[in-house]
Amino acid sequence: MRHLRVPSAETQHWLELCRSQNWLQKGAGVITLEDGMKGIPLSENAPSETDECWSNNSIFSAQGLTKGPEHWSEHLDQKLLQDIGKELPKSYEIQGDILIVKLEEQTLEYGKAIAEAMLKQLPSVRLVCADNGVSGEFRVRDLEPLASRNEDISTVTQIKENGVLISTDPAKVYFSARLSQERKANLSVAQILSKKLSRPLRICDPYAGVGPSLASLLRDDNLVSECYAGDLNPDAFELLKHNIAHFISKSSNPLRELKIENIDARKWKDELNGEQKIDYLLVNLPHQTLEHLPELLPLISRGHPTVIRGWAIIDRDTLSFQEEKIAGQIKSAGGKVESIKTSEVKGFSSSKIFMRFESWQIFNRSV
Ligand SMILES: C[S@@+](CC[C@H](N)C(=O)[O-])C[C@H]1O[C@@H](n2cnc3c(N)ncnc32)[C@H](O)[C@@H]1O
Repeated sequence: MRHLRVPSAETQHWLELCRSQNWLQKGAGVITLEDGMKGIPLSENAPSETDECWSNNSIFSAQGLTKGPEHWSEHLDQKLLQDIGKELPKSYEIQGDILIVKLEEQTLEYGKAIAEAMLKQLPSVRLVCADNGVSGEFRVRDLEPLASRNEDISTVTQIKENGVLISTDPAKVYFSARLSQERKANLSVAQILSKKLSRPLRICDPYAGVGPSLASLLRDDNLVSECYAGDLNPDAFELLKHNIAHFISKSSNPLRELKIENIDARKWKDELNGEQKIDYLLVNLPHQTLEHLPELLPLISRGHPTVIRGWAIIDRDTLSFQEEKIAGQIKSAGGKVESIKTSEVKGFSSSKIFMRFESWQIFNRSV
């Protein structure tokens, strides 16, 4: 590749000139030469050495310092890129070593080529899958493997979140990396409650999925004494058991009690024989959280502060009524709400709102 030899101090000037004239070789970098000189990579459009525009700077040939493509689409052949046109996927999601991409109907036939280009650009990705939408009772994504780096098309993968490895399978269970900030906040709130009660907590995560919220709660020293977790999806339940075993193997505090069940969340009150013992409850079934909540309130322990953190999808114009509605449910179950706060969780593009609520209450012992 041809390079223009220029004094180091003039590099910026020559770079700007070459860029403005379309003489700069794309994807190649400036090379450092001896005696304080630099070599600017020139494209085929750049004039020859004899041209006056170079002000007597010489041109030499050297192997280019290739930066490589900056975007996966640069690995696609030009004709294909033109055919795909505006329908080129603009975003994708990565879970562990799996890349998940939504393809428009017109691009389906180019799925394999797109996936192979993505594998070339992203060395940490093993498998590229097309996301054909959510389906079924557990709102799991229908994933179609498009290309794999090594013939392995298993959709089981591991995600590292807040320093902990979590096994998941995006083709069989729900997991949202976008909620990792919520899970961090779950930990801070649990720590505040535990301090207030001066003891470790009895926690319940009845819609636990593969257990990302428990990852940090169970690893924190002396934060949890009893843990009740479950999920109705049998695939999530299997991964949950595996993940919890991994989380507690990293903790120095043995749990007094651990129960993991493949049950409907509303059955936990029977599972715990009507014992009202949960200090900290997570309610994460966004499409039904507010309907299920009354059936979970009998789990809450009595006579001292407790916390419920939940997530729900609601109509945008109903946000202002939600605090009153949730407080009303708690009151009907015999609780006195000390504080309740609802807020929108940003980053969910929808005409609806993804809302978080956090309520602190004390349930009367006699109910
Ligand atoms: C939104 S996901 C939350 C998962 C997990 N807490 C997380 O943050 O990744 C809801 C979970 O509830 C499970 N689920 C659905 N209906 C359920 C029910 N009636 N009882 C218990 N779990 C249920 C789904 O399988 C799913 O894993």
